[in-house]
Amino acid sequence: MTTSPPTAHSRVPQTLLLLGATGDLAARLLLPGLGRLVATGAQPDLTLVGSGTEAWDDERWRRRVTDSFAAAGADGPRAAEVVRTSRYVCADVTREEDLRRLLATCHGRLVIFFALPPLITARAAAALARIGLPPGTRLMLEKPFGTDAVSARSLNEILARLVPEEQVHRIDHFLGKSTVVNILGLRFANRIFEPVLNSAHVACVDIVFDETLGLEGRAGYYDNAGALVDMVQSHLLQVLALIAMDAPPTLDARDLRGRKAQVLRATRVWDDDPVRWSRRSRYTAGEVAGRRLPAYVNEPGVDPDRGTETLAEVVLAVDTWRWAGVPFRLRSGKALAGKRKEAVITFKQPPRVPTGLTGYDQPDRLRIGFGPDRLGLDVNINGPGDPLDLDQVHLVADFGPGDLPPYGEVLRGAFDGDPTLSVRGDTAEDCWRIVAPVLDAWRAGVVPLREYPAGSPGPGDSLLTPAPGEMTGS
Ligand code: BG6
Repeated sequence: MTTSPPTAHSRVPQTLLLLGATGDLAARLLLPGLGRLVATGAQPDLTLVGSGTEAWDDERWRRRVTDSFAAAGADGPRAAEVVRTSRYVCADVTREEDLRRLLATCHGRLVIFFALPPLITARAAAALARIGLPPGTRLMLEKPFGTDAVSARSLNEILARLVPEEQVHRIDHFLGKSTVVNILGLRFANRIFEPVLNSAHVACVDIVFDETLGLEGRAGYYDNAGALVDMVQSHLLQVLALIAMDAPPTLDARDLRGRKAQVLRATRVWDDDPVRWSRRSRYTAGEVAGRRLPAYVNEPGVDPDRGTETLAEVVLAVDTWRWAGVPFRLRSGKALAGKRKEAVITFKQPPRVPTGLTGYDQPDRLRIGFGPDRLGLDVNINGPGDPLDLDQVHLVADFGPGDLPPYGEVLRGAFDGDPTLSVRGDTAEDCWRIVAPVLDAWRAGVVPLREYPAGSPGPGDSLLTPAPGEMTGS
């Protein structure tokens, strides 16, 4: 997807009210995304109001916004204007009188971004439901949406009292990543891949997000989430939905989100056996890319008794005609030896390689990279040298980054009133339903919490190896 010109929608005066404005998410991701978006001229009449419980004044807040905009290279006149008119209001957003005061400082169409922990978000939304919101208000909610299926449902019920579903933008910034969105073009804008993306031809699908970063000072959030909730329950399930869904007739929100919802409703833990088909581990001290990391349990703010995992693996089944019998293997971990951020579709072996062609030892694979953004095809051919000896060639197309960073894309969706790149309410609940048996098994202690040294490839017995059809020797 590319940046479209400003729509009639985005010319309406709008206020972005940022709750949790002094936090890490706002500084690192949201404000840089906003800066890049306003620098394109897409939001000519936007006022930014930041709010938090810290006693900041306008000047301190504007410094924060300026720094975040500058870090994203957004320093033109439009960005400067947003900084100049921006204000900060100190408020406890779970209190009605503070919310009234806050709403009174906003004008035009209102977009409220909840960059808050799930519990505070729920309390703030309940308080807003008691005082009411101006018509047309859009709500943006950061992940995790609730803490389980029950809390997600009750948050959905509160939101439904506030605004219609189309005005709720549950953020999953992976849906703003250009290569994630490009899965749609790869699958539905040519005839090459789609006819073979089914159980007749695919052996397994891996969705992997291995990071070299460790906790990076985020214990307050992460120690309560862990890798499964932080990455798998949210981002990786969204990627799974885009890879597994049937073709939507259009890319409007109703069609696209309907297709995703259908496929996620059919998704469950493989064999309904979370003990066999999930793994959890956490890192011990080690060195990653020349950087010493302490053991996760010794990171400031971590409570070792919580048993939070920093690497999660789970194998899922998508019970549809197209995918029955194909394992979807999801994995994400921190402080690993190398970055690996990709979805890999591994194809079954050909029904028969003619006698005389030798050397078939790797299955064919389609790789969709999420950083670096690239598409790759590992394919067996009888290439150079001995023509009867097979070689695997690696065809690669590199994509530049999208026009906007992911948070710029998702903010644009909310300003334009287009929820296509956000998560629908029922889907948010389903994503919790899918991981619930795994979380239950982990809490019950029936899946051991393993350890791996920071800077290693992770524990040895990954659920991702070997890939079905993977052979050693010819
Ligand atoms: C965030 C997670 O949502 O996504 C982080 O909370 C993770 O733990 C990050 O590092 C990965 O996304 P990106 O866009 O930084 O690659």
